[in-house]
Amino acid sequence: MKMWAGRFRQPLDRTFERWQRSFHFDRRLLTYELAVSSAHARALKNAAILTAEELISILQGLQRIGELAATSAGFLDDGEAEDVHHFVEKQLVALIGESGYKLHSGRSRNEQIATDLRLYVRDAIDQLRIELAELCNAVVERAGEASSAATGDAAMPAYTHLQRAEPVLVGHWLMAYVEMFLRDADRLADCRKRLNVCPLGSGAVAGATLPLDRVAMARDLDFDAPSANSIDATCDRDFAIEFVNTLSLVMLHLSRWAEEMILFSSQEFGFVRLPEAYSTGSSAMPQKKNPDLLELVRGKAGRVIGDATALTITLKGLPLAYNKDLQETQEALFDATDTALAILPLVTGWMNGVEFDHQRMKEAADSGFMNAWAAATYLVKRGIPSRLAHEQIGKAVKLCAEQHCELQDLALDELRSLNALFDQDFYDCLSLAAVLAVHDVPGGTAPAQVRQAISAARKKIDTLIEETHAHA
Ligand code: ARG
Repeated sequence: MKMWAGRFRQPLDRTFERWQRSFHFDRRLLTYELAVSSAHARALKNAAILTAEELISILQGLQRIGELAATSAGFLDDGEAEDVHHFVEKQLVALIGESGYKLHSGRSRNEQIATDLRLYVRDAIDQLRIELAELCNAVVERAGEASSAATGDAAMPAYTHLQRAEPVLVGHWLMAYVEMFLRDADRLADCRKRLNVCPLGSGAVAGATLPLDRVAMARDLDFDAPSANSIDATCDRDFAIEFVNTLSLVMLHLSRWAEEMILFSSQEFGFVRLPEAYSTGSSAMPQKKNPDLLELVRGKAGRVIGDATALTITLKGLPLAYNKDLQETQEALFDATDTALAILPLVTGWMNGVEFDHQRMKEAADSGFMNAWAAATYLVKRGIPSRLAHEQIGKAVKLCAEQHCELQDLALDELRSLNALFDQDFYDCLSLAAVLAVHDVPGGTAPAQVRQAISAARKKIDTLIEETHAHA
């Protein structure tokens, strides 16, 4: 039976009827719909709409639907259900008889879908934060390896404008990504806080018509509180927009990571050796090893950003409160979640498998005047105004360019012709180790600072893992 056919004289156009259904995608909300329906049933009993026996029979029926969905193949292939709410009602009536229709007393699908979606996003956030913690762990591990006693302090060039700028530790470079992913995990937690209020009892738009205990329903479903305004609660999808926008940031970070790894794995850079388990060959060119995982990550970032845009545009211009347009938010939400959830463990696997060519990275870090700023700092520390120091080292670089050499190859006399303060100890501050060490501020690339950053990040990851366990 349709959920709303009473006032209609004509049947629906068959094509339209099939087309407007959402069950083929919202069936994945079934577990949440069952939990939401159980909470509502308990509230109905407390409001004396259901007898104790009716409540038990409804709760058992709902549980049975969950079991059948999990165990009986094809149970969800319902050619008639309009949406997940209709499906549950149909199945419940089939299982326990007409009293199943009592479950819908005093509620509307508008509040149900709003609640189901909040539960879905809440779970997705908890899973994604676990995956982000795993990824951070893998990257920190690689950063730690690159700054250990065994490897020494592996160095590489850092780029600005994609031109060699200054040497940094490989560990420092990797930790930049950990910062992004930790921020993402934080954003998700923040989104979780705001979404965790319960729309149940909001009715269709104006609030329930029965005296339902909203606080009890919220508690039942682990929400912090009931939502404050029934009009807002039934049509708010901010939580989905916030969530998918956060995912688009996650994907944006992964896309920058992927792009950089692609670049660094090219023969021209040769810093990164692609893990074979995540690369493919070419059907035409036998020598090729292609960074497919990285390319797909970069590509799928566009897709998730598209999902975020689709959600935003769907809501833009919608009058309050519920409008069927809102049904359109679901597929974009699911797609973004599925995409991010599938990608994160793959990226973690890639990070565990990648090899860095530390030798090549070091060679690249050791030449090309990347010690020029440190050289200018030598003069600044001896009282020369930085603009002048900059200019004098600039002139030294020009000399080197003419002589095809590096700053450390210039004779002291040549240097003194630029500034009399140059002394023998100038050469000490030009070595790679000295240049790295001079960036000795929190957040800088001096080895001690990087080790500190790594251990600070490890603590943050531990906290993140504890939090995700608390929600599990
Ligand atoms: N399938 C609908 C959706 O996802 C459920 C809510 C329907 N409400 C209504 N008044 N037609 O938005």
